[in-house]
Amino acid sequence: MKIVQKLLMVILLLATIHTNAQTGNDALANTKMKHFIDALMKKMTIDEKIGQLNLPGSGDIVTGQASNSDIGKKIKEGSVGGLFNIKSIAKIRAVQKVAVEETRLKIPLIFGMDVIHGYQTTFPIPLALSCTWDMDAIKQSARIAATEASADGICWTFSPMVDICRDPRWGRIAEGAGEDPYLGSQIAKAMVQGYQDNDLRKNTSIMACVKHFAMYGAAEAGRDYNTTDMSHLTMYNTYLPPYKAAIDAGAGSVMASFNEVDGIPATGNKWLLTDVLRKQWGFKGFVVTDYTGINEMIEHGMGDLQKVSALAMNAGVDMDMVGEGFLTTLKKSLKEGKVTMQQIDNACRLILEAKYKLGLFDNPYKYCDEQRAKTEIYTPANLKVARAIATESFVLLKNNNNVLPLKKSGTIALIGPLADTKSNMPGTWSVATDLDKSISVRQGLENAVGSQAKILYAKGSNLDADSVLEANETMFSRSLNRDNRSAEELKKEALDIAAQADVIVAAVGESSEMSGESSSRSDIRIPKTQRELIKALVKTGKPVVLVLFAGRPLALKWENENVPAILNVWFGGSQAGNAIADVLFGDINPSGKLTTTFPQNIGQVPLYYSHKNTGRPLPEGKWFQKFRSNYLDVSNDPLYPFGFGLSYTHFEYSNLKLSSNTLSSNGKITVTATLKNTGDKDGTEVAQLYTRQMVGSITRPVKELKGFERVFLKAGESKTISFSIQPEDLKFYNSQLKFVAEPGAFKVFVGGNSRDVLEAGFTLK
Ligand code: BGC
Repeated sequence: MKIVQKLLMVILLLATIHTNAQTGNDALANTKMKHFIDALMKKMTIDEKIGQLNLPGSGDIVTGQASNSDIGKKIKEGSVGGLFNIKSIAKIRAVQKVAVEETRLKIPLIFGMDVIHGYQTTFPIPLALSCTWDMDAIKQSARIAATEASADGICWTFSPMVDICRDPRWGRIAEGAGEDPYLGSQIAKAMVQGYQDNDLRKNTSIMACVKHFAMYGAAEAGRDYNTTDMSHLTMYNTYLPPYKAAIDAGAGSVMASFNEVDGIPATGNKWLLTDVLRKQWGFKGFVVTDYTGINEMIEHGMGDLQKVSALAMNAGVDMDMVGEGFLTTLKKSLKEGKVTMQQIDNACRLILEAKYKLGLFDNPYKYCDEQRAKTEIYTPANLKVARAIATESFVLLKNNNNVLPLKKSGTIALIGPLADTKSNMPGTWSVATDLDKSISVRQGLENAVGSQAKILYAKGSNLDADSVLEANETMFSRSLNRDNRSAEELKKEALDIAAQADVIVAAVGESSEMSGESSSRSDIRIPKTQRELIKALVKTGKPVVLVLFAGRPLALKWENENVPAILNVWFGGSQAGNAIADVLFGDINPSGKLTTTFPQNIGQVPLYYSHKNTGRPLPEGKWFQKFRSNYLDVSNDPLYPFGFGLSYTHFEYSNLKLSSNTLSSNGKITVTATLKNTGDKDGTEVAQLYTRQMVGSITRPVKELKGFERVFLKAGESKTISFSIQPEDLKFYNSQLKFVAEPGAFKVFVGGNSRDVLEAGFTLK
C-alpha cells in the first residue's frame, strides 16, 4: 500500500474513533440530562410546569401591542419560564436572583432577545447581509452578536428570520435573506452556526430561534400579518427549505408565525408544528409562539382563549410569548380533557432541556459576567468587522461614466434627509444598540477626506411628507427628525451648496422605520418629497450620486434613467457612514449582489427570477405580444435582476465547459468557466450557477440557483471557476411531495447575475 493511502486510512480511523467517542459522549450527556430533568419534574406541581411555558415580555423594550404585568410576583410564584427583551446584565442578574433564590424549585429563567443583526455592534440589516453572498462574513456577524449578547446576560436570540419573500411591499423583507430558497438555506445555516458555535455549553454561545414558522413572508398583498395561501408544492420547494436548513444546522428553538397556513393559524397548526417540524424533520428543540400568537387566534376566528390555547398545545407549541393563554387556561383544559398531562410534561421538559443545554442549571449567572460585559461589547475589533461587512453588503446599481469612485479632492455637496442622521443607520430591529453612536454619512465622509476635500451639507428635504409616518410623528420620531422649514427653503439651501460643488452626493431613500414589522408600503418608490429634491439636483447638470437607503427593493425607474450613479446601501449598521465612505471613495470596490429582484414598478410584483415559464411565455427579446403572458404598459423585465450588482472594475465570463454531457445517478459533473477581471481595478465578483430542468413531472422554474462563489481577481487577472453538480442538487418535491431528481435534459447557466449568463446543457440519466 502506498504511504499516502496508509496515511488516509489512519486519518479515517482516527476520525471514526473521534466520531464514535463524540456520539458516546453525546449519549452520556443526554442520559445525564434526562435523569436530572426527570428528578426535577417529579418535584414540580402542575402550576409550576405550566409556569415554565410562560414567556412574558420584560417591558424594557416593547415590540408588540400588549404587555405583561406583575412579572416579579409571577416569577416568585414559579409562573414564568423566561423573559425577553430585557437589557443590561445588572437587571438580568437581579431577576435571575429572584428565580433561583426566591422560588420553590429555584429553576433559572431563560433570557431571550431580538438580536437580529448584531447586538450593540450592529451589522447591516439581514437583507443587506444576504447581498454579501459571503457565508463566512454572515456567520462571523452572528458570532459577534452572540458574543456581545451573551456578555450582557442574553442566552437566546429570536433569529435567524428566514422567511422567503417575493413581495417588496412587505416591510419585513428587510429582516430576511431575500427571494431564493437555496441562498436562504445557506444563510440560515451560517447564522445558526454563528450563534450556537456548535456547542451551547460555551458561555459565548446563544440559542438560535428560527422564525417565523412558516410562510410568513408570503402575506397577501405584502400587508403585514395578512393571510397566506399557497400550494404544498410551493411550500416544500420554495418557502420551507430555509427553515429546514436552520433545523438541520441544530437550531435549538422555532418561533411559530402569525399567519395562517392552509386555513389554520400557524400557532395552532398541528400539521406544521408536529407533522412537518417534528415528524418529517426530526426537530428536538422547543417551539415558542410569536408575540401574543395564541391570543390572536381569537381574532382569526378559532375560538375563545381557552380553546385557542388548547389548540396551540395540541398543535405542538411549548412556550407562550406574552399572551398568558397557557398560564391562565391550561389547567382548566387539563381537567376537562382538552389537553393531556403528557403534552404539558413534554413542553415543560423541552424548555428545561434548553436551560440545561445552555448550562443555566450549573450556573444561572453564566451569562452575567460583569468583566465580559465591560470588555467584549462594542469593541473596536467588532466595529472594524461591522465596517468591513457593511462595505460588502452595498450594491452598486448604476455607475455611468465612472462617476464613482469619487476623488478625495474638490468640493462635495452632501445633500439629503439621510445624510446627517445617526439614528437611521442601524435599520430595523436594532433594539440593543445605542443609536446615537452610529456613524452618519456626513461623519463618514468627513473622516475619509479630512482636509483633502471640502464637504458642504444641506438636508434638502424632510424624509417623507406624504405618509402615515408624518401623521404619527411622535411614534416615528427616531427616524423622522423633522426640519420645520418649508420644502422650498430646504431645497433652496441644497441648490445653493450644489452650485458650489463638483459633485453631489444625495443620501436619500427610506427611513429605518419604513421597513421592518408593521411597515408595509403600497408605493415602493422613494418618498415624493425626496423625489422632487432629486429631480432638482439632477437638473443642476452636476454629476449626482444617489446613496440610497432602503429596507426593501425600491421601484427606481426614473432614478435609473436620470441619475448617473446609484449605490444601494440598505441600512449598514453601526459603521454605516464609514463603510459608505470606503466605497464612495474607492478604498473598497463594491461587490454586493441583489438577493431580491428590483421591479420597474409596483404593478409587476411579485416578480422573481425563479418563476415558471407558463404556457404562453413572452418570446425572448420582446416586451409585448398579444395573447402572451405580459402587460400592456410595462415589460416583464425587472429593473435589476436577482444576483445583479456592479463593480468599479469589469468581469467577463467565457469558456463554459461541462466535464460530461451526461450525469449518472451516482455521478458528478464539473462545470468550469473562465472569469476575467477586464478592468483596471482589483475586485471581487460573485459568480453564480443556475440550472433549469427542461421537462418534469410538474412544471419547473426557468432558473434555480445551485451554487455561487465570491472570487477575488486582481486587475487583468483571470481564473477558472468551478462548480459541481450532483443528482442530489437537482432534487425537488414532486406532486406526491417526494424529494426526487428526474432524468432528462437540463440547462446550466453561469454568470454574474440571473439574467446575463453563459449556457450549456446535460442529460441526467
Ligand atoms: C415579532 C418577532 C419578534 C417578537 C419578539 C414579534 O412582534 O414578530 O419577530 O421576535 O415580536 O420581540
